[in-house]
Amino acid sequence: MKFKNTLLMLGVFTIFTPSAQATQATSELFDAKCAMCHTKTMPTDMSKVVAPALMGVMRHIKMSYPNKDEAVKFMVDYILEPTKEKAICMPQKIERFGLMPSQKGNVSQDELTQITSWMFDNFPPENFRGMGQGNRYGKGQVSQ
Ligand code: HEC
Repeated sequence: MKFKNTLLMLGVFTIFTPSAQATQATSELFDAKCAMCHTKTMPTDMSKVVAPALMGVMRHIKMSYPNKDEAVKFMVDYILEPTKEKAICMPQKIERFGLMPSQKGNVSQDELTQITSWMFDNFPPENFRGMGQGNRYGKGQVSQ
C-alpha cells in the first residue's frame, strides 16, 4: 500500500513538474519535424517562406481554440489529415502556400500531442503583436 502511494506520488510529480529538459526535447522535435516549413522566428526573407511562421499559426489557433485541450486535439487531427474545410488559417494563406501536406508517417500521434502542447504553451511569444489587429489574447483586445 505504501509502495503504491509512493508510485502514485512519483507519477503525479512527473506529470506536474514542468521540466526544462522535456521542453528542450520537444523544441528539438519541432525543429526536426516541422521547422523546415514553420519557422520559430519571424522570417526575414519572405521569398523563402513556404508556410506560415509558428507564431502566426498559434495566434490563429488560439483565436479559434482558446482551450488548450481542444486546440491540441484539433491540431493533432489536422496535421495528420489536413483539409481545406477544417483549416482555421486564412484562406489566402492556403492559396499562397497550398494545403499543408499530411504529416502521417513523418510524426507519430504521441509526438504530435507533445509538440502541439508545447506550441500552445510557448507561442506566440509574450511580446508578439502580429501583423494585423489583435494579439495573443485574441482579436481586438489589448493586453495592458
Ligand atoms: C512541407 C511543409 C510543412 C511541414 C513539414 C509542416 N507544415 Fe504545418 N502547415 C504547412 C502549410 C503550407 C500550412 C498552411 C496551410 C494549411 O493550413 O493547411 C500549415 C499549417 C499548419 C497549421 C494550421 C492549420 C490550420 O488549421 O490552418 C498547424 C497547426 C501546423 N501547420 C502545424 C504543423 C506541425 C506541428 C508540423 C510538424 C509536425 C507541421 N505543421 C509540419 C506546411 C507544413
